Amino acid sequence: MAKSTLSFVCQNCGAAYNRWQGKCESCGEWNTLVEEGAAATGAIPNGGRPPRKGRLFALEPLTGETHDSPRLPTGIAEFDRVTGGGFVRGSVLLMAGDPGIGKSTLLIQVAAALARAGQRAAYISGEEAVAQVRLRAGRLGLADAPVELASETSVEDIVATLSQGPTPRLIVIDSIQTMWTDSIDSAPGTVTQVRASAQTLIRFAKRSGAAIILVGHVTKDGQIAGPRVVEHMVDAVLSFEGEGSHQFRILRAVKNRFGPTDEIGVFEMTGEGLREVANPSELFLSERDLGAPGTAVFAGIEGTRPVLVEMQALVAPTTLGTARRAVVGWDSSRLSMVLAVLEAHCGVKLSGYDVYLNVAGGLRIQEPAADMAAAAALVSSLANAPLPNDAVYFGEVSLSGAIRPVVQTAARLKEAAKLGFTRAFVPEAARDSGGDGTPALNPTGSLGALVAEIAQLGKPKKPAAAKGAPSGPPAEDRD
Ligand code: TYD
Ligand code: MG
Repeated sequence: MAKSTLSFVCQNCGAAYNRWQGKCESCGEWNTLVEEGAAATGAIPNGGRPPRKGRLFALEPLTGETHDSPRLPTGIAEFDRVTGGGFVRGSVLLMAGDPGIGKSTLLIQVAAALARAGQRAAYISGEEAVAQVRLRAGRLGLADAPVELASETSVEDIVATLSQGPTPRLIVIDSIQTMWTDSIDSAPGTVTQVRASAQTLIRFAKRSGAAIILVGHVTKDGQIAGPRVVEHMVDAVLSFEGEGSHQFRILRAVKNRFGPTDEIGVFEMTGEGLREVANPSELFLSERDLGAPGTAVFAGIEGTRPVLVEMQALVAPTTLGTARRAVVGWDSSRLSMVLAVLEAHCGVKLSGYDVYLNVAGGLRIQEPAADMAAAAALVSSLANAPLPNDAVYFGEVSLSGAIRPVVQTAARLKEAAKLGFTRAFVPEAARDSGGDGTPALNPTGSLGALVAEIAQLGKPKKPAAAKGAPSGPPAEDRD
């Protein structure tokens, strides 16, 4: 009769089992089940009482008086762009990112900016002592900002303290994995604790109107550890990304109930904290390798903003049985697709070559419009033919080898012109998009035509610098 009061909860996906097992059947991870109290699973027993009779509530039409949700901008433009113009009252944001990427740094800057503007802002750290946070703020030149600081991990204490006095406009909780609530038995950091703590904080945000930012660390496989289960509860999920070795950090909205999800904010990590980068194209192109084969400038769009970025390719004869394909900053299946189209429709044989593709500056490109720039860089490297320095490329490659049109041609061309580019390789359909002050258009109907054009460039440059291995474009591209 006695029901089991324990349950085993997967720390990766939150699935619950009533006995231990090595592998979670729901997400396939091994050794992620941890014993937690029964209440943990969300099944709250009724204690044998008869079911409660429901309370009546009013249903409302879609039209009607709207309660305007005024935004509270931080004044840090790159941050406000991503949130959609500032914090909405009572909203809860999850800021996810690798450890050490700069989440705490960015958020203390955000809290300080608001505090300086006269808003009540609180920064609660569960990871660092007050002295540590102070030290960092001092180094960032923010010591004079009236941010309310504490080192606490009990959600109940935090809510009780912040309920006193005027409601804070912003509360930063760093991090949600360190928080715990009395109402649950499990240890801090378990899925159940994270979920329950987040729930309490979200309830407080909705009740009080304070905006709350929860910091969440990402595990090594890129998932938000524990807070995976928080993602659907919060209003917005911001992801803070960047390569450890690069200075650039990119803030991206993954989910946003109050704004667009495709905007990015670009920052640079300096000795004085994170600096806004208002013109990312200049930054991404600042250290271009002019005149080297294997690089092409892609005119991309991130959100509403055009961003020019260099795509670098290296195609080298393979020394192993199977050729390597490695890609950083782009989708590896898109690379495979472009390589397959080059083989099938353009006669470019790449099976005997290792292929490396890199997006300079640590940016992650998600647009299909990058296909043509990637293909141009690949063929340029293979043919040892440097592409013109003053040209940009954009267009989607279809499986038939055609170059398909992409959105926002005018914005891409304008940004290219602004940065001094005078030629643009564009899809055939964009032939008429040119005009005064835009780069000269080079409409390209098919990938084959582009390959032929690049191979031509290679001819005069064909140096004796061949590495002894087969190099240069396959003969069939030459005519
Ligand atoms: P931090 O904000 O602590 O990262 P997170 O909270 O995401 O774990 O930032 C840690 C890194 O940032 C650290 O390795 C040092 C670097 N950093 C700077 O380069 N300049 C600075 O002014 C600060 C505060 C940090
Ligand atoms: Mg931190």
